[in-house]
Amino acid sequence: TKAGYPHFMLKEINEQPEGIRETIKRRVDENNLIHFDDINLGKEELKAIKDIYIIACGTAYNAGLQGRFALQKIAKIKADADIASEFRYSDPFMDETTLVILVSQSGETLDTLAALREAKLKGAKTLAITNVIGSSIAREADNVIYTWAGPEIAVASTKAYTTQVVVFYMLSLYIAKLKEIITDEDYTTILNGLNEVPEKIEKIIAQEDKIKAIAEKIKDCTQGFYLGRGLDYSVATEASLKMKEVAYMHTEAFASGELKHGTIALIEDDIPVVAITTQSSLFEKSVSNIKEVKARGAYVISVTQENNKVVEEVSDEVIYIPETDDLIAGITAIVPLQLLAYHVSAMRGIDVDKPRNLAKSVTVE
Ligand code: F6R
Repeated sequence: TKAGYPHFMLKEINEQPEGIRETIKRRVDENNLIHFDDINLGKEELKAIKDIYIIACGTAYNAGLQGRFALQKIAKIKADADIASEFRYSDPFMDETTLVILVSQSGETLDTLAALREAKLKGAKTLAITNVIGSSIAREADNVIYTWAGPEIAVASTKAYTTQVVVFYMLSLYIAKLKEIITDEDYTTILNGLNEVPEKIEKIIAQEDKIKAIAEKIKDCTQGFYLGRGLDYSVATEASLKMKEVAYMHTEAFASGELKHGTIALIEDDIPVVAITTQSSLFEKSVSNIKEVKARGAYVISVTQENNKVVEEVSDEVIYIPETDDLIAGITAIVPLQLLAYHVSAMRGIDVDKPRNLAKSVTVE
């Protein structure tokens, strides 16, 4: 049931704190050590992993883009993300030192399953991150980590995405600890940061009226852009997909720095540009990118951390997320943008939970 919510999508956005709490709680013991029941890779095997491919479709791929960041920064392993339907055609190089991570909410996406089979054939180690116990991908992969998001009914994925990203961070911490390459201090900082995510998401959801007012302003626009640098660019990619699939608004995500290499030609008066600037080390550069679009008439909606008040000077609207470690800001920054897409969709009278032409589980190639 929708438990009093008008749509499953809104219900599931609101269920993210609970899903994330479950996803973390089940794996962390009283000494703050992470355990995964269905990972059979030992210390030596994990130490031998030289590179990682993260393979998925759609939103799960976007979660993989954040996962790639986490694995490289925390676990210090070369990681790449690729779209499942393309992966096999690039003849990817894999051997027993390769770990292929398949991300799939349903565990049934055919392209992702085919990539898993190919990876096994080539002798790579495989690991599934999925929300459905006993699904095809969970059964066939050598190792599994379940997200504990609970059943996701709306076609547009929300809580599966954020729990997938949380799993990537936990996996990265787990590997880093096993390899003994992380200080206790860094380990604790990141784990504490993850533990605080549910509460921070609750604070973001409490700003729903403000986000709804922004949705009201852009609901008749035919196109828009999402900009971000670094981790924020992965958030932009997912935020843009949400707006396209549920609100049918043509949007594109761009790496902020890439804008002036062509795309800026598309910026004209009153085009909504959502600028995500949660990364403090990239902040100045991001602000200068916002100024570039603002000067060309864009209607700028910024998503940033609470302390970054200076964006108010270059933005038409600012949505603040509670202050958090930069590394995990991506998990919270998506939430207001899920809500924005949801409200634009609802205002347009679209069947939010079942957007046209889409299926929850895609079992054809
Ligand atoms: C978007 C969405 C799709 C799925 C994609 C993969 O909101 O839901 O893009 O993420 O079809 O599905 P799974 O994760 O089941 O493999």
